[in-house]
Amino acid sequence: DSVKIFAPASVSNVGPGFDILGFALEGIGDTITLSKRNGQAYLIDAVGADIPQDPEKNVATVALSSFCKEVGYHGGFLIRIEKSFTPGSGLGSSASSAVGAVFAANELLNTGMTKEELVPFALDGEMLASGHRHGDNVAPCMLGGFVAVKSCDPFDGFQISYPKALKVLILFPDVLVKTVEARGLLPREVPMAQAIEQAANMAGLINGLTTANYQMIRKYMKDQLAQPYRKKLIPGYDDVETVCLENEAIGFNISGSGPAMFAFFKADQNLEPLKKWVKDFYEAKGIACRFYESAIN
Ligand code: HSE
Repeated sequence: DSVKIFAPASVSNVGPGFDILGFALEGIGDTITLSKRNGQAYLIDAVGADIPQDPEKNVATVALSSFCKEVGYHGGFLIRIEKSFTPGSGLGSSASSAVGAVFAANELLNTGMTKEELVPFALDGEMLASGHRHGDNVAPCMLGGFVAVKSCDPFDGFQISYPKALKVLILFPDVLVKTVEARGLLPREVPMAQAIEQAANMAGLINGLTTANYQMIRKYMKDQLAQPYRKKLIPGYDDVETVCLENEAIGFNISGSGPAMFAFFKADQNLEPLKKWVKDFYEAKGIACRFYESAIN
């Protein structure tokens, strides 16, 4: 008895959608194979990344255990987690593993929960990784496409339509940013004027996405709540943002809590010259930079 599924990487904190708006990527993520085994223990077989082997410290098995408690299943599992991207990148690695585990368990045990009902269990894994129950990676990973999240327990959120001719470029400099630390940089309160501007930008971004208005997306993809405090964790952030916008990026932002950054482009734009510029820019600083070009899915 075993089930194999793919849980995509995701980009959260899209512009003014801090802790609210995220989307799923295509082609990168976790492939999870879940099999029943005798006894009650969980065994982890990790491929492609160095992730905790202790089931109490691994986001996938913590989420799995929370789900199994709820459905009253006490058997053991072997979970094989094949990661095609690095944890700590800002691409929702913990969400991919946690979502993949609960989604696979729901299939394997034939428990019949909806994807929305599975979200809180995946968040128990996310909580372990980041110390906070934000759903802007878990929900898009679970549901696909663009998802806005209002609350997580129970899940309250919805999918948003977006232009299919949009692609995303992920720029991933090899520096370490821990989500827990990046959250610690944020102010606990914001002035009313800033809250209003953030809400207005969110209205503009959503309208731009749903009507495929690239100018609106570019104009309103601005964040007041996280990006100004966190960008100092990413060397060269301002230069990379400027060069992307000069190369017709339709908005630019930190992906999650970083260090990855992302920019939207029209699907047919050749990004090789831009990637070369950014690669050389980081190489001059002694930092390797990787890129992913992906559709939104
Ligand atoms: N919304 C979350 C944060 C995403 O910025 O802390 C990081 O996983």
